[in-house]
Amino acid sequence: MSLDSASIRRQFPLLQQKIDDHPMMYLDASATSQKPQIVLDAMNDFYTTSNANVHRGMHVLSERATTEYEKARESVRRFLNASSTDEIIFTKSSTESINLVARCYGEHFLKEGDAVLVSILEHHSNIVPWLQLKEKKGIDVRWIEVDQQGQIRMDSFESQLAEKKVKMVAITGLSNVLGTLPPLKEMIASAHKAGALVIVDAAQLAAHAQIDVQDLDCDFLAFSGHKIYGPTGIGVLYGKKDLLGAMPPFLGGGMMIKEVTRGHFVATDLPAKFEAGTPPIAEAVGLRTAIEWQKTFSWKDRQDHEREMLALALSELKKIEGLHILGPKNPDQILGCISFVVDGVHPHDLTDILGSQGICLRAGHHCAQPLHDTLGIPASTRLSISLHTTKDDILILTPAITKAIKILKK
Ligand SMILES: Cc1ncc(COP(=O)(O)O)c(C=O)c1O
Repeated sequence: MSLDSASIRRQFPLLQQKIDDHPMMYLDASATSQKPQIVLDAMNDFYTTSNANVHRGMHVLSERATTEYEKARESVRRFLNASSTDEIIFTKSSTESINLVARCYGEHFLKEGDAVLVSILEHHSNIVPWLQLKEKKGIDVRWIEVDQQGQIRMDSFESQLAEKKVKMVAITGLSNVLGTLPPLKEMIASAHKAGALVIVDAAQLAAHAQIDVQDLDCDFLAFSGHKIYGPTGIGVLYGKKDLLGAMPPFLGGGMMIKEVTRGHFVATDLPAKFEAGTPPIAEAVGLRTAIEWQKTFSWKDRQDHEREMLALALSELKKIEGLHILGPKNPDQILGCISFVVDGVHPHDLTDILGSQGICLRAGHHCAQPLHDTLGIPASTRLSISLHTTKDDILILTPAITKAIKILKK
């Protein structure tokens, strides 16, 4: 059965509004997804009927809130096929999840001279924490190069592993600029053979492909709720239990201790050890609802739909004179997004004009400056595909971009 994106679109209240009489065409889900009504309702219901702090009071509301929060953890466990809920840590975002690993694993288990290998495709969230570690501990940060199409150069990857200095590979599952997918399974197996751990930045991947952490055999994996139709303010860190168990806590405070005396504290067990303070409870409820809602669509239907939209977008954009698509032109080689540049037009000016007509695209370096430097451009324009993207969203682009270019080049 194919995906009925028009009916899915009707489940998103935000998309029903008009901007100056133009329909809302939201093509920026790679930055953050919109939320279906069912997610908004679940969070509202939680605040209306069950709000309390978790794992603290013994009263009925606290019990309800705790049950809801832990149900969300189980839902995420199944979403990733992790073997235990102890391996699912709720954080604020992908960014916080990666920082947690850089601090709690990197600062304690890596030493001067060890190398962390990141790819040129990475979002700044999977670069800066490692550069901070370099400043603090003298860790070497090395780069996996990509080819002109934004595909990982396996020769660059393998040759760096062969030097045996790499102790951590930090790799995206899906480029947030080019939509390319590094061969994760092959890379993880090679990294392990060379004695390195692997953290996967799945901030984009989680919205576009099924993830099985046991099959991938990654050591850590991060994603954000807000990019998979859930709320902002909640992220996930998956980590293998023995690794998380050996790591010291990240933040200190309530919930993460067994006991505190005047002189010392004893950290509690997983997963609470990494969840200091009041966690994002209503957000966990929203995330669980988003995950369960997405289960009503098969991954095959989702990807078929997405590839149809990407193919249409590629063929439409190719019609525009002076527009250059970045990365692969074959829709089978990408997921999630397409970025492009237009001769003589700044992406910000273009997206400004399109935005005034309700067409939401993203402009800038998309927090991937090393990739843009490598491509020899300061910025690009990105469109991204989601479950509610329809042919109309795509077909509106070519005339609107052509018209905007005419205005800007006058
Ligand atoms: C590939 C990738 N990694 C990490 C992030 C950071 O996500 P967050 O801002 O939710 O922490 C993003 C956000 O755009 C991303 O695209």
